[in-house]
Amino acid sequence: MTTLSIPSASPARPSNPRAAEPSTAVVGLQWGDEGKGKVIDLLAPRYGAVVRYNGGANAGHSVVIEGKRHALHLMPSGVFHPGVQSVIGNGVVIDPEVLLREIDQITTLTGTAPALAVSDRAHVVMPWHKVEDAIRETLLATPASGDGSGEGDRSIGTTKRGIGPAYADKAHRAPAVRVGDLLRPASLRTKIERVADLKNRSLAPLAGPGFAPFDGAAIAAQYAHLGERLRPFVTDTLHLLHGIVGAGRAVLFEGANATLLDVDHGTFPFVTSSSCSTLGIPVGTGLPCRHVQRVVGVMKAYSTRVGGGPFPTELKDATGDRIRERGREYGTTTGRPRRCGWLDLVALRYTTMLNGATGLAIMLLDVLAGLPEIKVCTAYEIGGERVDRFPPDAEPLALARPVFETLAGFDGDLTVARTLADLPAGARRYVEFIERALGVPAEVVSVGPDRAQTIVQGE
Ligand code: IMP
Repeated sequence: MTTLSIPSASPARPSNPRAAEPSTAVVGLQWGDEGKGKVIDLLAPRYGAVVRYNGGANAGHSVVIEGKRHALHLMPSGVFHPGVQSVIGNGVVIDPEVLLREIDQITTLTGTAPALAVSDRAHVVMPWHKVEDAIRETLLATPASGDGSGEGDRSIGTTKRGIGPAYADKAHRAPAVRVGDLLRPASLRTKIERVADLKNRSLAPLAGPGFAPFDGAAIAAQYAHLGERLRPFVTDTLHLLHGIVGAGRAVLFEGANATLLDVDHGTFPFVTSSSCSTLGIPVGTGLPCRHVQRVVGVMKAYSTRVGGGPFPTELKDATGDRIRERGREYGTTTGRPRRCGWLDLVALRYTTMLNGATGLAIMLLDVLAGLPEIKVCTAYEIGGERVDRFPPDAEPLALARPVFETLAGFDGDLTVARTLADLPAGARRYVEFIERALGVPAEVVSVGPDRAQTIVQGE
């Protein structure tokens, strides 16, 4: 029989450090641009770190401070708070030029370099990814001769930031460059020259006569230089994050893009190429699932979408135009006008469930003021049948006709409201209607772009 002896100098039994504030995810419940940047900026001071886990420079988060709008694409939105560590996790794809531009922008603005940690495992968006993104979109937009489907343009309407091709190369493995590679100039050159050659051979026939081949040696030199500039920020973020939560501090996970653009769970194929929902957090950060303890689902008081793909509640009329103008619904990344429509509760019930949202942030409520009535989609009709569940992809969704409930509109200047009681009764009823429909309380109601124009419940 073996006797287990416990050494007298045994370390203390492991405890389970619990942060006073639960680690929290902020995630978009629609097709993006819900106003996540503002919510993150608001919550960030309570957390040890703000962590991006997915997407790349396709995202556009704007933070308005003292009336000035700051547009960020890669930088976590908590970056304006001193003392909060900003982290770009391994699940993000990084365009070093964009990131360095944002680092410079913040350094100029605040007088110090941001407290930023960039994962050495994150993949790099290379010049060929942007070219490939554009080529693929052009090919999809132009039906092949002899294609009798009559479908015409099948392009996704991407941001052309190289996101899809960068994630595809990550899955392909062999031709991919990671941030850690940029810091090893000796092997970087061989690696990049090899990839450039492969890309020249694979892309030239797709691109046609105007294709300018990539110069591997020049790109290697350029990326080695970018790597040197990034070096002070690059680290093993997995261990950094485990250290932060291990010390009992909470982290704030920043979802980029949004749930209906999630590569697995969105309106496929009109999606982006990453896991945008909370389900992408463990894989994109290296922190296990139990660290997602609270989830704030961010939604607009109406719906918008940029790019292609079905949008059942879209308004192609004067009301849609009015929402676009009042809500300044033009892309932060591409400047494209956003498609606007009524709130879609079928989609929101699905994304609330999928993300495990524990609270809502209802944004841009002020934009709806002055409308005589507000419609809300509560179900779809597909092929003559009433459907309450969000369909699995774009094909059945394109057939969905919205079933609307009409609510009374509201008027007045909502931007001055600081509590729910300050809101016009109709606006309050609208918030309560959404809370009941989704079974989750509104923790934040935003009535204007500035930090101050916000109602925070339970504070
Ligand atoms: P990609 O991410 O550039 O490949 O674009 C794929 C689709 O996602 C396109 O319809 C884009 O307009 C959309 N998209 C990607 N990122 C965002 C975002 O942050 N907000 C809104 N739409 C986005």
